[in-house]
Amino acid sequence: MWLQDTRPSCWAVAWDWVLAPSAGHVLLPKVPLGGEGASPAQRHGICFVAGGCLPNLGPWADRVPCKSALPAPLLSGWMGERRGLKGLQKQCSATMLLLHRAVVSAFRHACRFKSTSSKLCIQACSTNDSFQPQCPSLTFSGNNSSTRGWRVMGTLLGLGAVLAYHDHRCKAAQELPRIYTREEVRSHSSPETRIWVTLGSEVFDVTEFVDLHPGGPSKLMLAAGGPLEPFWALYAVHNQSHVREILAQYKIGELSPEDKAPSTLKTSDPYADDPIRHPALKVNSQRPFNAEPPPELLTENYITPNPIFFTRNHLPVPNLDPDTYRLHVEGPPGGQSLSLSLDDLYQFPKHEITVTLQCAGNRRSEMTQVKEVRGLEWSIGAISTARWAGARLCDVLAQAGHQLCETEAHVCFEGLDSDPTGTAYGASIPLARAMDPEAEVLLAYEMNGQPLPRDHGFPVRVVVPGVVGARHVKWLGKVSVASEESYSHWQRRDYKGFSPSVDWDTVDFDSAPSIQELPVQSAITEPKDGATVESGEVTIKGYAWSGGGRAVIRVDVSLDGGLTWQVAKLDGEEQCPRKAWAWRLWELQAPVPAGQKELNIVCKAIDDSYNVQPDTMAPIWNLRGVLSNAWHRIHVHVRANP
Ligand code: MTE
Repeated sequence: MWLQDTRPSCWAVAWDWVLAPSAGHVLLPKVPLGGEGASPAQRHGICFVAGGCLPNLGPWADRVPCKSALPAPLLSGWMGERRGLKGLQKQCSATMLLLHRAVVSAFRHACRFKSTSSKLCIQACSTNDSFQPQCPSLTFSGNNSSTRGWRVMGTLLGLGAVLAYHDHRCKAAQELPRIYTREEVRSHSSPETRIWVTLGSEVFDVTEFVDLHPGGPSKLMLAAGGPLEPFWALYAVHNQSHVREILAQYKIGELSPEDKAPSTLKTSDPYADDPIRHPALKVNSQRPFNAEPPPELLTENYITPNPIFFTRNHLPVPNLDPDTYRLHVEGPPGGQSLSLSLDDLYQFPKHEITVTLQCAGNRRSEMTQVKEVRGLEWSIGAISTARWAGARLCDVLAQAGHQLCETEAHVCFEGLDSDPTGTAYGASIPLARAMDPEAEVLLAYEMNGQPLPRDHGFPVRVVVPGVVGARHVKWLGKVSVASEESYSHWQRRDYKGFSPSVDWDTVDFDSAPSIQELPVQSAITEPKDGATVESGEVTIKGYAWSGGGRAVIRVDVSLDGGLTWQVAKLDGEEQCPRKAWAWRLWELQAPVPAGQKELNIVCKAIDDSYNVQPDTMAPIWNLRGVLSNAWHRIHVHVRANP
């Protein structure tokens, strides 16, 4: 059998295989790579057929069954310069096996084909973009059945040698860092050319990672063909070892020595104008700013003081002028849109409610202990309670001419904080909730009797009682009604829950609903995990809350890891049925069993739908570490009596 493609677009590298992407896949061992004039793809050690197809295969075009033998992802795994060599090597064995199967199968087809003589031409291919058949070194006729078995055997042996050689090449390639110029990196800035980035002097091919990027593909594409540093300055959450580890998998080489000098790109600090924060806050990330109050302060007051209210920002805090601030409210089709100043908003009836706000990632650090998740390591403090005042969203929507409609609709919110592409933070809630006066969704301009602090959305934010924090859009700039949920990354590609079996290779964000109402939650704020308590009696304190306005009806506390339970006393405001928007603080004074040297204290809350927290994290583990609400457990030592 012999194959030839005279199309000038075909070029290949390495002692490798040529894959023709569009019309089927054909395998040709090629010349060793890396010679003079070798392209980056060649130096990378991967074969590549640009736009290749197999129109010239003659009788073999329909006989090379590789099309079905090679699944698309694997094929694409071999197309062009790929992920880092580590990743490549992982793919090597599986792919080579499949290739092997494909070739053997091709041979079988070939041998069965009687009417045409077949030749396999193991040909060297020059790098001048064309296949040039050289010496057909292995030729056989497919119609001699007595020698067929030997031929196949010989082919298999040959392939074995090729596999071994290929493996050897991969290993060798891994040891020697490839060298690239910045110019070369720049030319890899799209999925077609593949997406390369640099960090320091290292070069990475992140094409495969783009769709998996937790911040959304568009964010990573901002850095395509260039350095990551300016973006990591903006999203400083990247400066963590696990992020570097992920990136390391995609390393393909180093910058050439003359290009190693730091990039000249300006990285002026987009966070320079962020407000000054309270020093008591436990900072989880400085840029963007994310912080929580320490447990000992969290339940000191039923209402969380503004300066220590947990802060969850995805972007720099905008500095908005209250005099020129306008809230744009889109009217219905044919209706009139509103452009509301702060004074206009003050004209709506002022509505005041106490609402607990909880981030979906609260207590993520406990979920991480089961298995690593991607996200900020929140402890138990990504939750706080405030008295919010503002105009009801239903009143504002009504003034813009909106009505509840029969068909599904959503109210989309856009913040005035945006990333370098101008993409704003956004989220949405169902129109039915927004229009329901009993749901008390606010366009809040006051927090605990003060204008909203800048970190919490000055001058106007949405407050959606009973719903995950992500929908409480801060620095509100625009409200609109649509038949679909917000297209924001944070609505569609984040803040969703998945089965513990779903990982970053299999996750399908479209398959899960966005989180709205949160499940029942509680945590122990006192004593602290690891603390030493006095013998005799121990005081245990904490908070409990449930989403959707469901009231907490009971908190059970155990001192022995869940074997026996005592009911805690609930403090804080009694709330209206179905409108229990705020947490209950709770307390238990319990005798410490005599002779006990340590206690495994556990709490769990029960809401008025008799929902109860799950006992452990493992069954609710999910790749983003959201909805982490298993029993909260701490371990304390008991001071020995003198
Ligand atoms: N709104 C805007 N515009 N930008 C944001 O980054 N973060 C959301 C939400 N609203 C966010 C936003 C998230 S994830 C949470 S949990 C809450 O704000 C946190 O509100 P807080 O910082 O006032 O506690």
